[in-house]
Amino acid sequence: MAEITIRLNGTDVPLSVDPRTSLLDLLRERLGLTGTKKGCDHGQCGACTVLIDGRRANACLALAVAQDGADVTTVEGLTSAGHPPDGENEALHPLQAAFIERDAFQCGYCTPGQLCSAAGMLAERGPSAVTADLTADPALVPEEIRERMSGNLCRCGAYVNIVAAIGDVAGSGARAGDGVRATERAGAGSGRGAP
Ligand code: FES
Ligand code: FES
Repeated sequence: MAEITIRLNGTDVPLSVDPRTSLLDLLRERLGLTGTKKGCDHGQCGACTVLIDGRRANACLALAVAQDGADVTTVEGLTSAGHPPDGENEALHPLQAAFIERDAFQCGYCTPGQLCSAAGMLAERGPSAVTADLTADPALVPEEIRERMSGNLCRCGAYVNIVAAIGDVAGSGARAGDGVRATERAGAGSGRGAP
């Protein structure tokens, strides 16, 4: 067993972990944070996406023991902090409110991963694979959002409304990581290959 401390949703959590345990299993099986979903368990679906030091990552591919000292944010840690109140949804992160407003889900299984991935994506800078000008920091038009969120699958096919919801938040200027409990914000790129 290894002794580690993870800053989890704003609170330092000391843990004794088996070095073989994934971050996903640690969150779900030991810490009861079942908002983070297990889909493929192989880095293919994005259902397990969390933020590690502000960068989105697949928790199924991250070893818990490697997160000693890291700042991990799960969907339970997304907050409205830093964002203006939004009526009845004022306790929610703007992405959460936008997903509700746009009805951007059906079964909801992919939604926590979509939300964390989008929160990380909004803090990223630089071109993507569909950006024509590689020196640009492009606006998050739908084509850019679809490309940057392509690592998050939705079995229900709610993509149209997911892209619209993220576009609403991107268009509001909320591109920074406000409302994400992390000490370090992401730079360019997702940190997990092509998003
Ligand atoms: S469960 Fe991690 S990417 Fe599918
Ligand atoms: S809403 Fe069902 S998988 Fe996306």
